[in-house]
Order: sequence, then structure tokens, then C-alpha cells
Amino acid sequence: MSKQITFSMIKPDAVAAGNTGAILKMIEEAGFKIIAIKKTRMTPEVAGKFYEVHKERPFYGELCTYMSSGPIFPLVLEKDNAVEDFRKLIGATDPQKAEAGTIRQLFAKSIEANAIHGSDSAENAAVEANFFFAATERF
Ligand code: RTP
Ligand code: MG
Repeated sequence: MSKQITFSMIKPDAVAAGNTGAILKMIEEAGFKIIAIKKTRMTPEVAGKFYEVHKERPFYGELCTYMSSGPIFPLVLEKDNAVEDFRKLIGATDPQKAEAGTIRQLFAKSIEANAIHGSDSAENAAVEANFFFAATERF
């Protein structure tokens, strides 16, 4: 497969715990190139927009509160087969079910505060990358 991008975010729990560096190291060692990165903080309204696809789900309100509770690092990553390979690297949503050696198994605190986000399709990766980064911020 040719080069593809995916979008990720190091979530507030992982940033607060001081795990940003360790997570970025795992991402780079797994062969992903970081093409955009910044530190920012979402308001609850911005988090609500980002997670609009989940607005009917019971955890939506809590998720928006949690995702705006502290700074995050949005990332655009490039690799062959990036979307699928990145989902493998981060592991299952629930860290109790995440495979050994995955980012969530190592760093997530709970099903909600699960350390990291990864796009679930190439289409969503493009939408999510555009949500945080202009084309001129990607190298
Ligand atoms: P993500 O989008 O963050 O990469 O995670 P995912 O695909 O593995 O999970 P998704 O179903 O898209 O859910 C988005 C985020 O919502 C929180 N969540 N809380 N309390 C709960 O039952 C629950 N379920 C999901 C997690 O932060 C999850 O990553
Ligand atoms: Mg998802």
C-alpha cells in the first residue's frame, strides 16, 4: 500500500501523566512520520464538534468534558497503510481489552481516558486532520 495519512491526538490523561514523549517515541519507532503536531486545548464546544458523530451515544457529554479537561497534542501521521496500522499500535478502546504492548494497554487509565485517538478510516483521517491543521502546517 502507498503512503497514507492518519490523524491522532494524545489525550488529556496521557499529557497530564507526562507520557507524551514515551508515546511519540513508540509512534516514531513503529515507522510513522510526524507531519504535523501542536499542543492545544479544546473548549467543550470544540470537543463537541470534533466528536459530533458520537452525539447520540450515552457517553457523549462526559467525553466532551473529559476531552476539554486539559491540553492535548493533535498529530497528523504518515505511513504505508497508516489508518489500519495505527489502530493496531494503539489497541482496543478499553485498555483492559487492549493487546499487550499497545499504547492503550501501556498508558490508558480507563475506557474513556484512554491516552490516544486514532482515525477509523482514511475519509475520517482527512476530515480530522483538517479540523486541527491547515495544509501549510504539514511538513
Ligand atoms: P478514538 O475515536 O478516540 O480513537 O477511540 P475508538 O475509535 O477506539 O472509540 P470510539 O467508539 O470512537 O469512542 C470515542 C472515544 O469515546 C470514549 N468512550 N467512552 N464510557 C464509554 O463507554 C466510552 N466509550 C468510548 C473513549 O475516549 C473513546 O476513545
Ligand atoms: Mg473512534
